[in-house]
Amino acid sequence: MRSSFLLPLLLFSAISLCNFSKGQAGLQMHFYKKSCPNAEQIVQNIVWKHVAGNPELAAKFLRMFFHDCFVRGCDASILLDSTANNTAEKGAVPNGSLAGFEVIDEIKTAVEEACPEIVSCADMIALAARDSVSFQFKKPLWEVQTGRRDGSISRASEANVDIPSPFSNFTTLAKQFASKSLSVKDLVVLSGAHTIGIGHCNLFSNRLYNFTGKGDQDPSLNPTYAAFLKTKCTSLSDTTTTVPMDPGSSTSFDNHYYVNLRENKGLFTSDAQLLTNGRSANVVDKLVGSGGNFFNAFKNSIKRMGHADVLTGGAGEVRKNCRVVNS
Ligand code: HEM
Repeated sequence: MRSSFLLPLLLFSAISLCNFSKGQAGLQMHFYKKSCPNAEQIVQNIVWKHVAGNPELAAKFLRMFFHDCFVRGCDASILLDSTANNTAEKGAVPNGSLAGFEVIDEIKTAVEEACPEIVSCADMIALAARDSVSFQFKKPLWEVQTGRRDGSISRASEANVDIPSPFSNFTTLAKQFASKSLSVKDLVVLSGAHTIGIGHCNLFSNRLYNFTGKGDQDPSLNPTYAAFLKTKCTSLSDTTTTVPMDPGSSTSFDNHYYVNLRENKGLFTSDAQLLTNGRSANVVDKLVGSGGNFFNAFKNSIKRMGHADVLTGGAGEVRKNCRVVNS
């Protein structure tokens, strides 16, 4: 009787210890409160200055954070430049349209001036994503725990595999999210980020012109929306034209992504796929009804994403320049 009670308790403690040593518990609110008290304010000031002049930047930082976290965890591997011997994540196909790296450089310079070698580039991405999206509301939309450390490896080959493709089906997307300890609910909630930003024609034009290789249209795409998209993306080979993912409010962070999705106006196959599974379609239904539900859910899901495989404590380093590993 006694041992049957003790065994689960021991197992539970072992699992908790294991999680701690992997760094899951290593992030905390205001990690730099004593070591660099102005760090978070410096990030917000610079991000807000840039987003005020260029509202599209919010989408760039939010996507940068996602692409960082999905490859080797949130370790700023996305910021490392390629070298003579290594093509870094920046050189991977899905990262070709990322932007905002110069703003991160500006933040790093300012933070290094205030407190040299204290604040990681990985935390700067997490804060910049939150602050850029929050500019619209003039208050932080979600909490960011900090204490991440920077990694030293960045490979395009890994980014090409680990970053979810817009052509993926539901099973593949759910698996890729699960590999980052993210649930189907997280997948649906985080896809709501597509309420801001743009998409390039070639990433969805197969849905307009050649869905099954017979010159056909994706039957799951709203025909009126498809006709509109065809006026923008006039051929399969157009790789330069972009369209807003949430037409009419593509710089406004809201739950309109789910309204579009319900009307079969999700831009990518990966968006449309969220309606093909009972569980995920249920989550869409909950989010379509109320903006409040979306904001609450997004807070939790992005916090979980920001914990993906993080380096904490003595692991990794704090880069002096976000583009190169310390020598
Ligand atoms: C579910 C899997 C996902 C897939 C397959 C996917 C795919 C894509 C693709 C193909 C684009 C268009 C890029 C371009 O044409 O330049 C895009 C844009 C974007 N994605 Fe995702 N995405 C996914 C999830 C996410 C998540 C989880 C976030 C953030 C939490 C996110 C944030 C964004 C943002 C903000 C943009 C707009 C970028 C811009 O305007 O430059 N996406 N995504």
